[in-house]
Amino acid sequence: MTTRPSHDELNRLETASAEDLLRWGLDRFAGRIAVASSFGVEDVALIDMAARLSPGVRVFTLDTGRLHQATYDVMDRLRNRYELRLEVLFPDSADVESMVSEHGVNLFYDSTEHRKHCCHVRKVKPLGRVLAAVDAWVTGLRREQSVTRTHVAKASVDDANGGIIKLCPLADWSEAQVWEYVRDRKIPYNALHDQGYPSIGCEPCTRPIKPGDDPRAGRWWWENPETKECGLHLSHD
Ligand code: ADX
Ligand code: SF4
Repeated sequence: MTTRPSHDELNRLETASAEDLLRWGLDRFAGRIAVASSFGVEDVALIDMAARLSPGVRVFTLDTGRLHQATYDVMDRLRNRYELRLEVLFPDSADVESMVSEHGVNLFYDSTEHRKHCCHVRKVKPLGRVLAAVDAWVTGLRREQSVTRTHVAKASVDDANGGIIKLCPLADWSEAQVWEYVRDRKIPYNALHDQGYPSIGCEPCTRPIKPGDDPRAGRWWWENPETKECGLHLSHD
């Protein structure tokens, strides 16, 4: 295990640019760091940055089995364009079988409890498997995204995941900055972004938004904004 940075060192990283933070993480945790990607616009920007800094960088995606075809398409385009070590993780099949046998395949619409159960089985448990084998992970979280994310730190100790380091290089980026980065470099992105989907998750749990809506209004649209986290990111407040 790489020596964990001190709180002072982590605090100092708060002023680092996205690229400097990523460079620091890839160097400090070489071979023991992975980028988490759902292939949304933030994640394709991060993959571009990480692959330029460290060809062969480890990237993982949690394939819930309920993703949009457009997400699989962009996954392939990124795989072809960059030198990545892309790991696609699936949920435990016995967990999915018992969940859908007991509660039905569309259980997420029944209650927040069932929706969180589905996210736990399809995302959080597989995430735990990857994170148990690394010392740091990188995510595309941004503070502007929602009321649950306003305190996202650029570098922190992730107590929800065994105390490894969590890096969010784009924490203080605006949506416009992300798009400028992606357009300037002609990075492939998910086609759904041009069809009213600023934030993309599983197909049954994501819909397009109307102009002026909150960017995450299309995610679990039947729930309150305060409950709209799937459990991948728990400790921002
Ligand atoms: S979610 O928690 O509501 O699904 P969101 O879609 O905003 O999260 O993505 C935030 C960050 O979580 C992404 O930038 C990415 O780092 C990580 N993430 C989300 N979904 C996945 C996934 N399916 N596989 C890997 N990482 C993911
Ligand atoms: Fe299940 Fe929906 Fe969560 Fe995907 S987003 S894991 S389909 S509840």
